[in-house]
Amino acid sequence: MTNTGNKNRIAATRPQGELTLAKFYLTTAIDYVNGEPHLGHAYEKIAADVIARYHRLAGDDTLFLTGTDEHSLNVARRAHEEGISPKELCDRMVAAFKRAWEVLDISYDRFIRTTDEDHIATVKDIVRRIYENGYIYQGTYAGWYCVSCERFLNESDLVDGRCPVHPTRNVEWVEEKNYYFALSKFQERLLQHIQAHPEFVQPETRRNEVLNRIQEGLQDVSISRSTVEWGIPLPIDEKQVVYVWFDALINYVTGAGYVEPERFGYWWPADLHIVGKDITWFHCVIWPAILMAAGLPLPKTVFGHGFINIQGARLSKSAGVVVDPVKLAEEYGSDAVRYYLMREVSFGKDGDFSIPSLRERYNADLANDLGNLLNRTLAMIERFLGGVVRRREVERIGDERDAALVRTAQAAVRAYQERMEALDLSEALAAVWTIVGDANKYIDEKMPWALAKDPARREQLELVMYNLAEALRVVAVLVSPFIPRAARGIWQQLGLEGLPGAATPDEAGLASCREWGWLPDGTQVKKGAPLFPRLEPTPAEDAGAATPAPAVSQAAGGAGAAGKTDKTEEGADLISIEEFARIELRVARVLAAEKVAGADKLLRLEIDLGGERRQIVAGIARFYTPEEMVGKEIVVVANLKPAKLRGIVSEGMLLAATSADGQSLALVTPERPVGPGAKVK
Ligand code: MSP
Repeated sequence: MTNTGNKNRIAATRPQGELTLAKFYLTTAIDYVNGEPHLGHAYEKIAADVIARYHRLAGDDTLFLTGTDEHSLNVARRAHEEGISPKELCDRMVAAFKRAWEVLDISYDRFIRTTDEDHIATVKDIVRRIYENGYIYQGTYAGWYCVSCERFLNESDLVDGRCPVHPTRNVEWVEEKNYYFALSKFQERLLQHIQAHPEFVQPETRRNEVLNRIQEGLQDVSISRSTVEWGIPLPIDEKQVVYVWFDALINYVTGAGYVEPERFGYWWPADLHIVGKDITWFHCVIWPAILMAAGLPLPKTVFGHGFINIQGARLSKSAGVVVDPVKLAEEYGSDAVRYYLMREVSFGKDGDFSIPSLRERYNADLANDLGNLLNRTLAMIERFLGGVVRRREVERIGDERDAALVRTAQAAVRAYQERMEALDLSEALAAVWTIVGDANKYIDEKMPWALAKDPARREQLELVMYNLAEALRVVAVLVSPFIPRAARGIWQQLGLEGLPGAATPDEAGLASCREWGWLPDGTQVKKGAPLFPRLEPTPAEDAGAATPAPAVSQAAGGAGAAGKTDKTEEGADLISIEEFARIELRVARVLAAEKVAGADKLLRLEIDLGGERRQIVAGIARFYTPEEMVGKEIVVVANLKPAKLRGIVSEGMLLAATSADGQSLALVTPERPVGPGAKVK
């Protein structure tokens, strides 16, 4: 689709000062397969997927590698317990990982398994190269081993005689003849590299940890096991197998096509390894040393992300704290899980996962902010413009408010790109939501329903609706790496062709977002089902255990829903007089009022409804003190189902009007006293 109205197309370029990369190769850690995928694994794969999709959107030739680490002792032991071969167990678990990544829309280009033929060949070749270069020698290992980490531990690493990362498991004493890698020879080169390349270890905190540890001194590490059978035979001594970490790290060069030199020359070195903070040592010290020893270039960046915890406890198989990401996605949708994790947790830091906070984010950001913007906009385009968007130019007929929306969007696009390049994924999303927030406000301020009543203001109405649809187009492109399904849904409902987030020089591409006006004139919208239907409060939320946000908007009407307008206000969904008659509005007198402890927006009111005494909870505390409420006559919905807010039953809802900017609120009261119980109609 071409944009005939736009004069100034721009080429897809990166922000100023950024190198335009011809290719972008990124990887995740490969997961152990002795347990099902959990939310921690999913978090990492989602973050990597967002980055991969962003790079495709930015026009980079992108290779995204993920996979499984299969030669672990845990696998061998579990397979033995189940009476099957390790490979059979791996095959079964790999199916579970692949299914999880499918449900979560992880768009990897290759799923590597360390049992793949090309990986086995690559590992053997790299070991041989390092041996020939003189960095592998024979020795005897006598020390501790943590099977969960697959890590050799010194006495000084132990805490109370146990592995600090897996305190519920016993460490094992290992004494065997094996081969060593001369890590100590790389201490100086590693230090120099990390100091000279601040981008090599990210974020900054991990870089400092790694530098400090290297400065403490490096010891040579064992790279083979003679008492383990499940693994890749060591090419220089086939009675031994390659130590699982040595094998696993090499997956990154296998994935770049090591066995096909031309392909490897194109993809290697990797641009970004995304790994958890627990394994930065392997990736920032051992891995670059292996590459140096093999004479291969080093990756550009290793990013050590934080951990997803539950009430502060680390999610982990061995500690039995797990959340099934597939079930979560099945219940809330893949986009909701992706959005929540990316928005809630600052990439690089730890974050706490909880269902109430997921539900809160979903309702606030997705259902209310984004979902409402789409529904309101499309409903109005259908109702007022017969479903057809007319391209009208801000410069020609717009005012300061129109220009402000365009400015907000353009600043957001710049911030988004800058944050994405810095891997600050949550702030990139926050930047997009500034467009969503401003567009919702723009509706309230422009009041298209009023413009629609005046034929002389038709062009103004068309401009407002164009700007809203254009804002949604930009949002769809920008969110496409994060919530690809919703982005597609917005695109389809806007009536656009193709897919948002395509690296194309048209309205689907990133470059087009930097300019206003790519939405084609004459676009016919196709309003569909809501993308994010609102989640009703759970019994726990009703009891006040979780977020009060949805409940507040229910109790206070306009107050809680500030900035959002009821659908009927726009005339989108008209109701009949009979439907209105079902709502019983009555005058009530406030007998007593008090603040609700722990909820700064809520007041508890005791009211007289004409001989009947009730209590209601209302989100008006920011606008009225308890004292000024007492004695007032107010209007309440008397036949509303009771709801619990912060554990207090609210038996009705008062009516109040909120200003467009949400900054002031006024109670609806009878113009002269009529007495409690009077009907309002
Ligand atoms: N097999 C090794 C990695 C080899 S990479 C050459 C491994 N596997 S793992 O299954 O234990 O972890 C896989 C990834 O998931 C790691 O990056 C790890 O940090 C990450 N996570 C595991 N639990 C996590 C959380 N609770 N939160 C976030 N990520 C965490 O280590």
